[in-house]
Amino acid sequence: MTQNQSPNPSPKPWEHTKSGSGSGSDPLAARFVSSLDYDKRLYTHDIRGSIAHAQMLEHVGLITADELKEIERGLNEIKTEIDEQGDAWPGWKVELEDVHMCIEAALIEKTGDAGRKLHTGRSRNDQVALDIQLWVYDALYGSESGYQSSLDYKLTSLARSFIKLAEDCGHHVMPSYTHLQRAQPIVVGGELLAWAETIKRCIDRVHACYEELHVELPLGSGAIAGSSLPLDRDYVFKILGKLTPTHNSIEATASRDVAIDFVYALTMTSMWLSRWAEQWIIYSTTEFGFITLDDLYTTGSSMMPQKQNPDMLELIRGKTGLVYGSLMALLTMCKGLTIGYNRDLQEDKRHVFTAYDAVCDCLDMATRIVKTTKFNEARIKQGLDRGFLDATSLAEYLVTKGVPFRTSHQVVGKLVQMCRDKGYEKLSLLKLEDFNAVCSEKSGKTLVENDVYDWLGPENVVKRYQTAGNAGVSGFEQQLAAWKERLGGGAE
Ligand code: ARG
Repeated sequence: MTQNQSPNPSPKPWEHTKSGSGSGSDPLAARFVSSLDYDKRLYTHDIRGSIAHAQMLEHVGLITADELKEIERGLNEIKTEIDEQGDAWPGWKVELEDVHMCIEAALIEKTGDAGRKLHTGRSRNDQVALDIQLWVYDALYGSESGYQSSLDYKLTSLARSFIKLAEDCGHHVMPSYTHLQRAQPIVVGGELLAWAETIKRCIDRVHACYEELHVELPLGSGAIAGSSLPLDRDYVFKILGKLTPTHNSIEATASRDVAIDFVYALTMTSMWLSRWAEQWIIYSTTEFGFITLDDLYTTGSSMMPQKQNPDMLELIRGKTGLVYGSLMALLTMCKGLTIGYNRDLQEDKRHVFTAYDAVCDCLDMATRIVKTTKFNEARIKQGLDRGFLDATSLAEYLVTKGVPFRTSHQVVGKLVQMCRDKGYEKLSLLKLEDFNAVCSEKSGKTLVENDVYDWLGPENVVKRYQTAGNAGVSGFEQQLAAWKERLGGGAE
């Protein structure tokens, strides 16, 4: 028997009011109610929170300095043991339900009454809410395992890889697409920086998730109503480096907003990754041939020897379903719950971890794919004259000559039709007389001069865009400079 412990018939030391041997004695009930399988992953955060709680208990005189020392020693030993032994740590006991009770039981084994005092003024309800918050913080910004494992780093690395590719081949001219039909000419860098911009929004969402929404910590809320003991919540928050205690103990223990906001940020990341994956899958087809994926990131077919399938991109697209599912699961789990802790909330971590692991894998994979993909300039160029990409530019040329835009739109529509009738693929094959014939028919004036040819042809058009944020040469160059300044050196 452990030091100072009274005999307890239940395998769960906290089930004293049970008439029989308690829920821990039916293996099915024990397994059913346990979250140990997945919440083990919180052990460092649980220990960090417990040490802060113990330091506060000592500060307000609820435990002695010696007891604090004992608790700190015990918890640090437990952390080292779990670091070394992982799943094989003998303290993991399914009948103890979760990470919190396993660690506390092991602490009591090691320290006796000092360990029994740790839970003073605390409930697993505020303990787990704190653990999730600490875990989410580390997932966003990095933990003991370093910044490189954080979402912030992974998103930034992906943005950097788009920037790097844009630096290498950003000036090549390519078509843009709306409705997946040819639209206007752009430079490759314009589109690559569009992807980088989506990643930047994901980074901003990650920062907002923490800095704007979840700077308050729930520890000290107890089970639901707080505590009659003189706990100093501000002291705990100073130790953990956060801003303020939560304002309402009921809300703090009933809420899983931090989990939902975090997973929402992950679903948005996944959504954008899936759109990018789809675009590059299309670009890698024989029909398009705009990009070549590195052999490392394609797979063969078990039957068709020639195949190089973009499976990694397909899986990035496919895993979005799993991530969306996690968000739906969390929202549905919280729907209709009474305010206060309900055991349903225990399932939150399963979905948080699933979504996080999937998105981290996808980000790592995406970064490698972007770093190794080649844009095929010659192939893109071959098809540039198709699709009348310069039609809008021609309409804008007429605007500069004083033709109202609606009229110039009609003129160019007619000119495109004329090209199709004559079998011409490009507007620049038309003669000045052709332009002026249609122009005078629609606007009563012959305004087209030789300078019209400077407004035609994709290569000319991409140099003419002048609006801020454009996808042509000037917009690309401005955006690239801004990105380089934003990211600074140390490109990954
Ligand atoms: N494992 C539980 C969870 O994750 C801890 C809280 C249990 N609280 C309770 N009152 N039974 O939510």
